[in-house]
Formats: sequence, structure tokens, C-alpha cells
Amino acid sequence: MGQSSSASSPVPGVRQASESEAARWDQRYRDGSDGWELGQPAPPLAMFLRRHPLAPQREGKVLVPGCGRGHEAALLAELGYSVVGLDFSGEAVREARRWYGPDRPQLRWLQADLFDAAALAAAGLGKGSLDGVVEHTCFCAIDPRQRAAYRATVLRLLKPGGWLLGLFLCHSREGGPPYGSDPEELARQWRQTGLVPELWEPAQGSVAQRSDEWLGLWRKSLQSPSPHQLEDAPCSAP
Ligand SMILES: C[S@@+](CC[C@H](N)C(=O)[O-])C[C@H]1O[C@@H](n2cnc3c(N)ncnc32)[C@H](O)[C@@H]1O
Repeated sequence: MGQSSSASSPVPGVRQASESEAARWDQRYRDGSDGWELGQPAPPLAMFLRRHPLAPQREGKVLVPGCGRGHEAALLAELGYSVVGLDFSGEAVREARRWYGPDRPQLRWLQADLFDAAALAAAGLGKGSLDGVVEHTCFCAIDPRQRAAYRATVLRLLKPGGWLLGLFLCHSREGGPPYGSDPEELARQWRQTGLVPELWEPAQGSVAQRSDEWLGLWRKSLQSPSPHQLEDAPCSAP
């Protein structure tokens, strides 16, 4: 870990192919074209983590991919998890540090591309290294062609019995970001990836403009997924 949060120079962990994409996100942060910004953790996730009987035990290492300004990562750290907030935008990581402070044992910020397995491993995020992943508006921000790689990355990083908690935008509007999802298809794909659903329902308490959010909790089974479960989930991004 410990990459610089400089937005102007390429950093290890941000693959060349994704540098232009990261630069586009940097620009959105600089311009304030950040329509996704809530200024707080997403209420359905916060409510679930604080009160729901299915909320995962408050321990272990959790990754927040595409953490942006870090609201969910900071909440998780406050609740007792050991958290890595990851984003390939240097501006996002800088903003997260500005909002929530520098790295400390319970909360680390990492500038890296989620799909760069080598950079993740170098930062201690190797195969089976995580107890949990919390998804909020990263899945809908990536190109839908990268979704299989996203699922494969989550599966690889979770230890057996590890969990994925996610708030997913399930709209059917053309284009993006944010790219929409069909709730049934999304659930089918996570199952096919080898994660077992514990909860999948329309989210409670979403902010007004996000009435199409669904909340899900999945667990990686204690056995390895069979090869057919991974058919649509290549191990790295194209
Ligand atoms: C719509 S913003 C959401 C930020 C934050 N999750 C929130 O809800 O406020 C999407 C974030 O994902 C990051 N991102 C997109 N693709 C990524 C990738 N391949 N690796 C790491 N971060 C990525 C962007 O830089 C951006 O900060």
C-alpha cells in the first residue's frame, strides 16, 4: 500500500490501460461533476450494517472497491471492521483522506485498479485475503463488459465463508455510468459465480433519487465453486 494520491502522475497499481479511465474520474472529482455523491454512507447500507440481524460480525478485513470519498469505508472502520478503501482515482483517494484522515490500522486508503491483481496482491489483497467486500456504486460505474471480471475479483479475494454486501442500482435506462442491472439477472450471475445469497431485496431507506436500489448479501461457500460456476467469470479484465 502507501501509493501516492497524486492525480497527475501514473502510479504503480493503476494499469496503463485504465489510466485514461482513472483520469476521467479524476476530472469528475475536480469539476464537481459528482452526481453520485451523497456526503454520507448510503442509508440502506448504514442501516443494514448497524441494525440488521444478518449483518456480518464486526471483525475481519473488508474491501470497499471504488470507495470514492470513503464514506462507507469510514463507517465500516467505525463499526470495528479493518477496512481498505480502494479507488484508482488519485483525486478520490485524496478526498477520502481529506474527509476521514490518513491511513491508520483500521482504515487504509489504496490507489489501485480493482482489476490489477498484482497491485492488489502487493498491497496484501491476495487470494482469500478478505472477510468481506462492500459494494456501493462501483459496479454501476464500470463498463458492463468488466462485470464478469468484477465478480471473479470478488470471488478470488474472499476467503471461504467470506461475504459480499452490496447496494446495486437496478434501473433499465440505456447507457451509463451509472449502468443499470436487472435484479434477477444480477442475482443469477452472483449465484453462478459461486456466492450463496442470504438476502436480495429492494433496498429500504434509499435517498429519493435512488428508488431503484437493491440490497444484497452473499456468502462464498466453504467449498470451491465448480468450473461451470466460473464459466462467465474470467480472472482478469480484458
Ligand atoms: C460513482 S463513483 C462512486 C464512489 C463511491 N463509491 C460513492 O458511492 O460515493 C465510482 C468510483 O469508482 C472508481 N472506480 C471505477 N472503476 C474503478 C476501478 N477499475 N478500480 C478502482 N476504482 C474504480 C471511480 O474512480 C469512482 O471513484
